[in-house]
Amino acid sequence: MKVTIYGSGYVGLVTGACLAEVGNEVLCVDIDPGKIERLQRGEIPIYEPGLDRMVTENSKAGRLRFTLDPAEGVAHGLFQFIAVGTPPDEDGSADLQHVLAVAGAIGEQLQEYRIVINKSTVPVGTADRVRERIEQALAERAAQIEFDVVSNPEFLKEGAAISDFMRPDRIVVGTDNPRTAELLRALYAPFNRNHDRLLAMDIRSAELTKYAANAILATKISFMNELSNLAERLGADIEQVRVGIGSDPRIGYQFIYPGAGYGGSCFPKDVKALERTARDCGYQAELLTAVENVNERQKAIPLRKLEQHFGELKGRTIALWGLAFKPNTDDMREASSRVLMEALWAAGARVRAYDPVAMEECNRIYGKRGDLILCESAMEAVQGADALVVITEWKEFRSPDFFEIRETLRQPVIVDGRNIYDPAQMAALGYTYYSIGRGP
Ligand code: UGA
Repeated sequence: MKVTIYGSGYVGLVTGACLAEVGNEVLCVDIDPGKIERLQRGEIPIYEPGLDRMVTENSKAGRLRFTLDPAEGVAHGLFQFIAVGTPPDEDGSADLQHVLAVAGAIGEQLQEYRIVINKSTVPVGTADRVRERIEQALAERAAQIEFDVVSNPEFLKEGAAISDFMRPDRIVVGTDNPRTAELLRALYAPFNRNHDRLLAMDIRSAELTKYAANAILATKISFMNELSNLAERLGADIEQVRVGIGSDPRIGYQFIYPGAGYGGSCFPKDVKALERTARDCGYQAELLTAVENVNERQKAIPLRKLEQHFGELKGRTIALWGLAFKPNTDDMREASSRVLMEALWAAGARVRAYDPVAMEECNRIYGKRGDLILCESAMEAVQGADALVVITEWKEFRSPDFFEIRETLRQPVIVDGRNIYDPAQMAALGYTYYSIGRGP
């Protein structure tokens, strides 16, 4: 089948590569000439395990192509996926200018029936706006061509996006046209095996499903973070509480890990956008506001612990392990590491940072500055530092040489923002160890 995908960012590229992998002819359209050039040369602009091979092999086989030309895109695919970014506006709502620009381009170029599919995370009601924009462009050239607009949100996790796409829990298809649902069922058939995972529903419900999924996951995390703060004050251990509640299948073990707050390009943005959507229709979504506020507060906890230990942080040097918002990605959007680094700099401290893959990204964001030393290894980061803070639970941080670290640090102090170490072991090794929801 022929598929066009607008937007060669994270979602677009993963969708394109996976659809090409199962034999479709995929054309990716982007407005960034530099990006398209790099992709045509086989360079992948993002870090995602497995994506590199998939893009390279499918490009070589001619099933995955890249272009700057929207006209070529509209002519190519029966399926027209919109997977461009929806960054948050200043007021927290999703900025739809890129989505609507693609809709306009489709309307200008449309020659025959096409299915326009919203893959980007967009507020409820966006499919209607996409439809209107296409109709408007058609009216301007007095053309009457049939098309459908579908909401087909993605549920990919960064770092596991390929397997999430290839083996989805569910495929949500929001459409008011049963024939379109059947065409999408055919497109998704290679990923919809063993039992039917395709959920056809009305468009607005599909749009809301995406926000509902992310918001409930964010709620679970903020709930646990709230409880971790309470556990500290009550002398309880949140990790024991976590296991205690997770064993109830109605609660479950997943997504109840306390830590230094959630980050990334989805949860913070989507919780804010849903809260904003609620406000727009006259409803005060108090739970969502609380989820967001608890998360903001949680991101500041590692700094609080450092202040608790050192008092004034001016002139201190802090080793930081982990810059990415979670392991297996180089993405630093809304990362807790950024909140910590920026607060440390504001307090007059220096940061010696290390991350297995996000060093370049950190350099891109912050550039050269005297109070940021980008280190080549975890051990190098610790050299000459007053304390070590772990913010991202990369595997390579799980079992480091604690003896060497203790000898290298100026003071044997570890702030563990993800509870990856054992407090008893840390105490036995002579560390002053701070973690989340387990003691002071
Ligand atoms: C999230 C969702 O998990 C995906 O299902 C969704 O498709 C995606 O957003 C999206 O909307 O595109 P992602 O942002 O890649 O995926 O990352 P997650 O693995 O969900 O982690 C988000 C944040 O929550 C991370 O900062 C992580 O450290 C934090 N987290 C996660 C916790 O603090 N505790 C947990 O128990 C789980």
